[in-house]
Amino acid sequence: MDKIVFVAFATFSCILFASAIEIDTYDFLMPNVWPHKDELYLCTPIRISPHSNYYLVGFEPNATMHTAHHMLLYGCSEPGSNESVWNCGEMQTNDIDALYNTASPCRSGSQVVYAWARDAPSLHLPKDVGFLIGKDSPIKYLVLQVHYMHRFPEDKTDNSGVFLKYTKQSMPRQAGVFLLGTGGVIPPRKVERMETACTITESKVIHPFAFRTHTHSLGVQVTGYVVRQDEVGDVWTLLGRKDPQLPQMFYPVASTRPIERDDVLAARCIMNNTHDYAVKIGATNKDEMCNLYLMYWVENDSPLKQKYCFSAGPPHYYWNRARENLVNIPAIEI
Ligand SMILES: *[C@@H]1O[C@H](CO)[C@@H](O)[C@H](O)[C@H]1NC(C)=O
Ligand SMILES: *[C@@H]1O[C@H](CO)[C@@H](O)[C@H](O)[C@H]1NC(C)=O
Ligand SMILES: *[C@@H]1O[C@H](CO)[C@@H](O)[C@H](O)[C@H]1NC(C)=O
Repeated sequence: MDKIVFVAFATFSCILFASAIEIDTYDFLMPNVWPHKDELYLCTPIRISPHSNYYLVGFEPNATMHTAHHMLLYGCSEPGSNESVWNCGEMQTNDIDALYNTASPCRSGSQVVYAWARDAPSLHLPKDVGFLIGKDSPIKYLVLQVHYMHRFPEDKTDNSGVFLKYTKQSMPRQAGVFLLGTGGVIPPRKVERMETACTITESKVIHPFAFRTHTHSLGVQVTGYVVRQDEVGDVWTLLGRKDPQLPQMFYPVASTRPIERDDVLAARCIMNNTHDYAVKIGATNKDEMCNLYLMYWVENDSPLKQKYCFSAGPPHYYWNRARENLVNIPAIEI
């Protein structure tokens, strides 16, 4: 009896899906890797068929925080390596990895499309929104990066990863990611602000829906704003604010108001340098980073060509020296 009910229900749900959109799942998992040392970042790629368009609509993590500290999914034009697994630490160290070759996640066209940390739940994009990958997209490969905190025992391997939810049906709203960041130096024993701002120059309406922050250990707070400039003065609207020491995943934005041409996107990181030496922005574990990722969708359009907004950072750049002549700059609230 139970079985019949189950079959009937399954048929019913298939019909429901057929009339809406058909979602398939791809198990994008590490191919039984052996994390042979602490603080290891490993990458594995998939090539997207260049003959079809696919839309990524959701991400279901298949990992636990006991093994994986975080996972990032990159879209790339070219992968960092042609191997099935490579060492892709963001924080490059000079020691040679005896087991895996070292390369960045992407060789070209890098963008983050998903981030997972500390047992975060699945991410499903808003209705009708998908990341276009494949034929008509600059994303020709997906690369999964897993950060393993601790070395595994000799006989244990790992297949953490993400179940990708995708469809071949065209989605009316394409997702995109915009990355704000800075260069610069944080003086010793100082709380410093690192700021960046850029005007949107393309005639597109972008709908923000999620943001993610990223710093290393000195980050205290990262804030994103959209600034609308008119005769009355600049109006700063909060997009998101997060302590980057919390899990660095995508969170909903504070304001989903559409962003238009001539609006300014801005980000500020508050960094607390507790060391007796200066710390610069850079790629090693001795350096820092100040990043804010903004995920958005556009209706019946392609995402922005403009994907980055980087400033020189302190001591050369602050918002009050920006080309955009920013006024009404918000006070720091920690
Ligand atoms: C990941 O998925 C595989 C196969 O679906 C499963 O065997 C494994 O236990 C999962 N791992 C985690 C950490 O959920
Ligand atoms: C991967 O292989 C292709 C084709 O042989 C080559 O053009 C490309 O440079 C290789 N990429 C890397 C990162 O070695
Ligand atoms: C910076 O770090 C010091 C030492 O841990 C702490 O006392 C101070 O409150 C921190 N300042 C900020 C703004 O986080």
